[in-house]
Amino acid sequence: MSSAAIEFAHQNQARFLEELKSLLRIPSISTLPEHKGDVRRAAEFLADDLRRIGMEHVEVIETEGHPLVYADWLHAGGKPTCLAYGHYDVQPADPLDEWKTPPFEPSERDGNIYARGAVDDKGQMYMHLKALEALLKTSGGKLPLNVRVIIEGEEEVGGEQIAKFVKEHPERLKSDFALVSDTELFAPELPTLCVGLRGMIYTEIEVRGAMIDLHSGIYGGAAPNPFVALCQIIAALKDADGHIQIPGFYDKVKSPSADELKAWRTLPFDEEHYRKSEVGSPSLVGEPGYSVIERTWARPTLDVHGMPGGFIGAGAKTVIPAKATAKVSMRLVPEMTAEDTFAKYKAFVESLKPAGVTVDVRLIHQGEAMVIPTDNHYIDAATHALKEIWGKDTVFIRSGGSIPIVGDFDRYLKIPSVMMGFGLPDDNLHAPNEKFHLANYYRGIDSIIRFFEEVGAA
Ligand code: BES
Ligand code: MN
Ligand code: MN
Repeated sequence: MSSAAIEFAHQNQARFLEELKSLLRIPSISTLPEHKGDVRRAAEFLADDLRRIGMEHVEVIETEGHPLVYADWLHAGGKPTCLAYGHYDVQPADPLDEWKTPPFEPSERDGNIYARGAVDDKGQMYMHLKALEALLKTSGGKLPLNVRVIIEGEEEVGGEQIAKFVKEHPERLKSDFALVSDTELFAPELPTLCVGLRGMIYTEIEVRGAMIDLHSGIYGGAAPNPFVALCQIIAALKDADGHIQIPGFYDKVKSPSADELKAWRTLPFDEEHYRKSEVGSPSLVGEPGYSVIERTWARPTLDVHGMPGGFIGAGAKTVIPAKATAKVSMRLVPEMTAEDTFAKYKAFVESLKPAGVTVDVRLIHQGEAMVIPTDNHYIDAATHALKEIWGKDTVFIRSGGSIPIVGDFDRYLKIPSVMMGFGLPDDNLHAPNEKFHLANYYRGIDSIIRFFEEVGAA
């Protein structure tokens, strides 16, 4: 296992961490227009790093949204080509007062690095670059396989630009398989490959009543209240068991195979620990008859993320707001489609419209669910590499999260993805105090080096 590249990675761990910290200091929040310049700065940072380590054709590709970063090294004649994918954008950091140290001032505590984007996905995406650096620096500027790197800056807002690029320029990303490090280990120390993701549709419901905000004393009793109307609509979307009421919503849902279900039952999962230490609520909810793992990986769900509008300041204001909005998303599973689900949802919401208001249902972004085949050489190479570095057999899991482009790699590039991620279940993705366990950062780099060497050796 002691390849020269792994030696190099071990000797350079301190520098690899300092460089990651520099990347984490850039607040590349893709959804907030005021951070547009920061998103670009993160792209330039990565392009500079790719050039420095010896990758070729490094390019910051302009799009109608945030830029893509591309690089390649294609001189390993006869060897497979890897498409190394990641995203350099991050979610907003609020609520800020819940962070122990500021989100864009990376801070080391008890073996972790804390910062927004530490694990999702800057820290994980950067493992690819550091693995490439270690290989290039110890083999006279050569790699054991061909590599194309593509890093996007708007995964957290739906990934529209990369999807367009993949559809319009499949030849520029022509590869044999993709490597995606944007998922989690099932449990600490347990090497994991993710083989399925849920899809999603992210929507907004806007309800309008009066033409202008009204004094609630003068008009209350006669004027419609859009918040009450919106709450009535939302309350009708799910029953008390969490079963979604949209007609036809479950029609296409494909159950996991008996083999998959059997394998999931052997995973080390303690529901009470999950409830208490990961979720922290008085009880868990969801459809009766399905385990937590099935409910989060293989069943569709619906959630409300926020209801902007009206008065939300401290204290009291007596007003009937003219409009109310809700951000509502649904997670989809194989064989549901985003288009069909949105049409059914929109029709149902419109049918629920109370008197006195108008309702507008909008689609913000969408992505399809996917399950990838595991009977290919790249998955085998990955499990071998993981066994060497972690000393254990790999578990195959699905995840409830979504990475929209992975489905497009299958559909438009016709390549399998290896989803080899090293996050931990308590890394606080999208939440305050996001972290990346440093041992996983370093072992992740080692794993990727070994994986590239395995694929190149075959
Ligand atoms: N990396 C996550 C998805 C993820 C997390 C997959 C953990 C597996 C395990 C990704 O950055 C993400 O957050 N995706 C969004 C997608 C959306 C905004 C289109 C999600 O799942 O909410
Ligand atoms: Mn991610
Ligand atoms: Mn994310």
